[in-house]
Amino acid sequence: MEFTPHPHVDLHVDVPAREGRAVRVAAGQRLQVVDLEGQQVGDLFAFADDGSDEYLSASHTRAHVSRLFPAVGEDFVTNRRRPILRLVEDDSPNRHDMLIAACDAARYAALGAAPDHASCADNMRQALSALGLTAPCVPQPVNVFMDIPVRGNARLDWMSASTEPGDSITFEALMDCVVVVSACPQDLVDINSGQPTPLSLRVSPAPEDPAEPTNSPVSKTPSSDRTTTMTHRPAAAPTPTPDSHPALGPTSLSHLGLANRLAVAPMSRVSAGADGVPTAEMGRYYAAFAEGGFGLVITEGTYTDALYSQGYRNQPGIVSDAHVTAWAEITARVNAAGSPIVLQIMHAGALSQGNPHRPGTVGPSAVQPRGKMMEEYGGSGAWPIPRAMTSEDIEDALQGVTAAAVNARTAGFQGVEIHAANGYLFDQFLTGYTNLRDDEYGGPLANRVRLITAAVSRVRVTLGPDFVVGVRLSQTKVNDFAHRWAGAEEAEAIFRAVAGAGASYLHVASEGRDWIETATLDGGETITALARRVTGLPVIANGGMHDLDQARSLLEGGHADVLSLGRGALANPDLPHRVASGAPLEPFDHGILQPMANLENARQWRDRRRAA
Ligand SMILES: Cc1cc2nc3c(=O)[nH]c(=O)nc-3n(C[C@H](O)[C@H](O)[C@H](O)COP(=O)(O)O)c2cc1C
Repeated sequence: MEFTPHPHVDLHVDVPAREGRAVRVAAGQRLQVVDLEGQQVGDLFAFADDGSDEYLSASHTRAHVSRLFPAVGEDFVTNRRRPILRLVEDDSPNRHDMLIAACDAARYAALGAAPDHASCADNMRQALSALGLTAPCVPQPVNVFMDIPVRGNARLDWMSASTEPGDSITFEALMDCVVVVSACPQDLVDINSGQPTPLSLRVSPAPEDPAEPTNSPVSKTPSSDRTTTMTHRPAAAPTPTPDSHPALGPTSLSHLGLANRLAVAPMSRVSAGADGVPTAEMGRYYAAFAEGGFGLVITEGTYTDALYSQGYRNQPGIVSDAHVTAWAEITARVNAAGSPIVLQIMHAGALSQGNPHRPGTVGPSAVQPRGKMMEEYGGSGAWPIPRAMTSEDIEDALQGVTAAAVNARTAGFQGVEIHAANGYLFDQFLTGYTNLRDDEYGGPLANRVRLITAAVSRVRVTLGPDFVVGVRLSQTKVNDFAHRWAGAEEAEAIFRAVAGAGASYLHVASEGRDWIETATLDGGETITALARRVTGLPVIANGGMHDLDQARSLLEGGHADVLSLGRGALANPDLPHRVASGAPLEPFDHGILQPMANLENARQWRDRRRAA
C-alpha cells in the first residue's frame, strides 16, 4: 500500500447506509463508531499505515485474547500479531462479533440477490481506493454491533443488532493505521433488521492532548431499559481518570465493560421484607454506589430457592415474581446511574441461621459447623448439625441456582456471581472437614469441586455465552478465619475446574482477613495472580482494598483485574470519585453494622454522627 501523511485530527465522517468509508488514525488517536439509527452492523477493517501488508486479523486477535468476542480494555492484533487497535469504550449493548467474514458478491449470489448488490468487501475496496490505496486482501473484519451468539450446541444465531440510536464503540489506535468501516448492506439476513442504515465515524485527539477533550460523544439519544453494559457516566459526575490511580482505568469482565476497576463487594444487609422482597431503601443504597462512581456493583448474597438456601431472616431472594419485580427496579436505578450490577446468588447450606421455608439445615455431611452464629445477621449460639444432603437435595439446590440465574437475567442483572466462598454450601462441599461424603461429591478434590462446577455449567448452558457468571471463592470462612487450602496445587485445581465449567470471572475473597494476609501461597505466587495465570479469566481481588497503596501495587503487579471493596465502600459510597479527585477516604466504623448489619441501623448510625 502507498500512504500519504496523516491529515490533522478531529474528523467527522458519515458512512451512508450500504457504503464504506476509510479514515487515517494516528497512534494514540481515538476512533468512535456511532450507530446513528440503531440496529445497524458495521464491518471494521484496519490496515497498518506503513505501506506493509499488515492488517487487523480477527482470527489472530481471538488467539491473542483467548476470547471469541471483543471486550473493553483488550487489544486487536494484526496478522503479524502486533497490537493495532484497543477497545477503550463501549456504550452499546456490548455485542460485537469476530467470527464472521465480510459479506461479498458470492455470499449475495448464494442468497439469490441481484448481481449488483453492495457488499462489505466491495465497500472496503472502494473506500480504500478513495484514499488512493489498495488492500492486500479482504481480511476477516471486526463485526461491530453484530449480535450473533454462539449457542450451546455451537450453532450461530443470526440476530438483529441490538443497538439503539446513538450507541457507539470507541477504539484507540496503537499504531498509525487506516481504518475502514462499512455500514453493512445485508438486507437478506436479519442482522440489520432488514433495513441497512448509516453509521458515523469520529477521529479525535489522543487523551493527553490538552487542546481538546477526547471522546466528546457524538450526540446520543438516551436509551431506556438498558440491560447490558454502560461504561458512560451521567454528565454531572466527575469522570475518574486512570492518571490518579490505576483502579480508575476501564476494564471488562467477559463481555461486560467496566468504567473502572473498583467494585462493590457483596454485603448482606438483612433489610429485605420478611418474604425476601427487596425494598425501595435497598434501591437507594445500591444506586448510591453507582452514583459514587463504582465500575461494578455486586449485590449481597441472595437466596435461590424456597427450600434450604436462605441464610438469614430478611435476606433478599430471587425466587418469586415479587422478588424479580423488586430487583428489576433496583437494577434499573443502578444502570441508570451508570454502573452494571451483578447478583450474588447464595445457598447457605449448614450456615443457615434464619430460614422460614424449612425446619433445620442441610449440608454435605452431618458435621456441626465450627464457631458461633453471627449476631449481626440475627443468629446466636452454636450452629445446628445439618442433615446430610440426599441426591434429591443436591438436584433441588442445583435447580434452584439455575432458576435464580434465569430470574436474575429477567430482573435486568448483567450477571450472577455464584457464592462458593466463606463457608456456605458450595464451600462446604469443597472443604474436607465439612464434606465426609463417600459418593461422587466427596473424597478427593476432583469430587469435592463437582457441585460448584455442576452449578456453573448448568447456569452457563441455560443462559448461554453472553451472560456473566462469576464465582466467588475463598480459603477462609465466616466461621473459620484460619482455614487455608492445601497450597498452590489445590488452589490451581479449584480455579481450573471452575473456569473449565464456564465461569466468566473469579472473585477471590478472604473473609475476616485482608488480601495481604492470605494471598501468598507456597511457591511465592499470590492466589489472585495464580488464578489469573492458570485460567486466563479476569480476577477480582478482595480484602482491605481501601488501602489505596495496596490497591495500586496489586494492579500494577498484575495480581488482579478488578478490586472489590466492602468496608471501604460502606464508609465511602463515592470512593471512586474521591480517588479521582484526591479527596480523603472516611475510615470504616464497625458501629455502622451494629447491633445488626441492616440499613435501618446504618441510617441511625449516620444520624448519630451528624448530631454529634
Ligand atoms: C456487612 C457485610 C456483609 C457481607 N456479606 C457478604 C455476602 O453477602 N457475600 C459475600 O460473599 N461476602 C460478604 N461479605 C464479605 C465482603 O464481601 C468482603 O469479602 C469483606 O468485607 C472483606 O472486604 P473489605 O476488606 O473490602 O471489607 C460481607 C461483609 C460485610 C462487611
